[in-house]
Amino acid sequence: MSKERVSRRQFLSYTLTGVGGFMAAGMLMPMVRFAVDPVLKADAGGDFIATPQKVADITEEPIRVDFSYKQKDAWYESEVTETAWVYRDEAGKIVALSPVCKHLGCTVNFGGDKEHPDQFFCPCHYGRYTKDGTNVPGTPPLAPLDVYPYKEKDGFLYLGKAEPRKEA
Ligand code: FES
Repeated sequence: MSKERVSRRQFLSYTLTGVGGFMAAGMLMPMVRFAVDPVLKADAGGDFIATPQKVADITEEPIRVDFSYKQKDAWYESEVTETAWVYRDEAGKIVALSPVCKHLGCTVNFGGDKEHPDQFFCPCHYGRYTKDGTNVPGTPPLAPLDVYPYKEKDGFLYLGKAEPRKEA
């Protein structure tokens, strides 16, 4: 018999330390990831995605612009397609609005309601928004459509992450 036999006490102590450490790591990892995640994501949030829309072709008439990008969720990578309604206001400034209705999240269309061809219309519960994205009082939505920040690069429109409209 070897003299370096591990005593029962030592064996228990090693085993408990090992198992305890393993469990602590298992509990701490998600916490650390949760704390660090927003920091890692901040960069992605600031990204602007290229759209196929030429800035020179944007007029006062809202047009639907679809754009796609790859999204990585942990190890899962998928292609996401988003839509924006884009036009120029009277001052010539580009406006890019999210099509997601602020009532329950259906998709709005510009001119979707024959009686209000100059407004955004949500067919789910007849929500309406004026051209600048302001919700029409008396219809279900209680907030204006979200707005995409935008950039122009090489003549094309780039869009950021849609965010609630800041009231002036
Ligand atoms: S989801 Fe658009 S009006 Fe209800």
